[in-house]
Amino acid sequence: MIAPPVDLSGANTLGLPSRADVVRVITDTAALAAAAEAARAAGQPLTVLGGGSNVVLRDRIPGLVCLMRTRGVSETPSGDSVLVTAAAGERWHDLVRRTLGRGLYGLENLALIPGAVGAAPIQNIGAYGVELSDRFVSLRAMDVDSGSLRTFDRADCRFGYRDSVFKSGEQGRWIIVEVTLALSRRPAPVIDYPDLLLELERLGWQAPSPVQVAEAVIRVRRRKLPDPRWTGNAGSFFKNPVVPADVGRRLAAAHDLTVRAGEGGAAKLSAAQLIDRCGWKGRSAGPAAVWSRQPLVLVNTGAARARDILGLAEQVRADVHRRFGVELELEPRVIGQD
Ligand code: FAD
Ligand code: EPU
Repeated sequence: MIAPPVDLSGANTLGLPSRADVVRVITDTAALAAAAEAARAAGQPLTVLGGGSNVVLRDRIPGLVCLMRTRGVSETPSGDSVLVTAAAGERWHDLVRRTLGRGLYGLENLALIPGAVGAAPIQNIGAYGVELSDRFVSLRAMDVDSGSLRTFDRADCRFGYRDSVFKSGEQGRWIIVEVTLALSRRPAPVIDYPDLLLELERLGWQAPSPVQVAEAVIRVRRRKLPDPRWTGNAGSFFKNPVVPADVGRRLAAAHDLTVRAGEGGAAKLSAAQLIDRCGWKGRSAGPAAVWSRQPLVLVNTGAARARDILGLAEQVRADVHRRFGVELELEPRVIGQD
């Protein structure tokens, strides 16, 4: 246990100053059960953080904060696949690198996404044409209320675009302790995402290996996205809006917008494009700014607090709504109080 109050500015990639009442660094499941029990006994809320790359931490986080640092990866052959089980505290990108290095394919498009394995199912991480749910088999999670463990299969998780039962239906109830994915020894590159295809063409890799796909993804990401080590950010700050197909067609025709296919025949608009069209690219409001190379990303240019980032997000949302009648939804979770 770390003595209170604890500064969490190094525990979130936006680099926001935030103080926790109590922090526990969790290195095994028994310690997690004990922390959940302690929070229950004290009637205090419990907040779990992995890499802090998809949260906006307000000035104070009441109750207990658990930093997931459990480790361990195992492999079990299963027919043509290999089932890879990783502890929640493993770094996601380390898992991608490790599996590629061992000739296990399927995670290459998800290279360089910050954060921990245990958070990956929360919003069903996705990038460059692949989502976690495409490789997902099951996970184990602890019920915060009882301390008991339960296995979730893919249907139980109710995965959607940047969504799952853990983000929408039962937020905060379950702490994910390990995740199992099915990877393949046979390469099956997914390379139809426009930016990825372009990068592969530029590199002259017509039939890329999985390692080359990961390399191309990393190059695109490094070019477009700010590195949290130097520029505080939480990746995309908004989800791409999903609207009924007819609304998508009408907006596309009226404003010359890009529309992609969403789930169940819906239309997915590009939030970056809507924000760009409102002239926000590169603009700032105090210590918060819209990233110049990808306007979906809000950055901390120095000494921002949660209220600065959220204030800028509100201005952007209001402008997009005024101009296009489209509601932007935040992607990161806002935690705590000011
Ligand atoms: P945290 O920020 O620590 O937590 C996020 C949420 O999950 C919180 O609500 C937290 O309470 C909960 N949580 C964390 N761990 C657990 C657990 N073990 N059990 C239960 N709940 C838990 N996301 C994408 O999908 N695609 C991208 O391409 C992408 N690119 C990004 C690029 C950058 C530069 C950045 C900064 C972020 C990007 N993200 C992307 C967002 C983020 O990296 C992912 O959502 C990631 O999975 C978050 O992991 P984390 O460990 O940092 O989660
Ligand atoms: N665009 C602009 N202006 C810009 C930049 C982009 O108009 O300055 C438009 C272009 O039309 C471009 C389109 O936005 O083609 C899409 O851009 P990009 O390929 O970067 O994808 P995105 O939809 O903006 C999503 C995810 C990212 C993920 C990439 C790659 C969401 C909210 N974001 O971004 O995920 O890495 O696709 O798959 O779905 C994250 O969730 O944190 C994240 C970074």
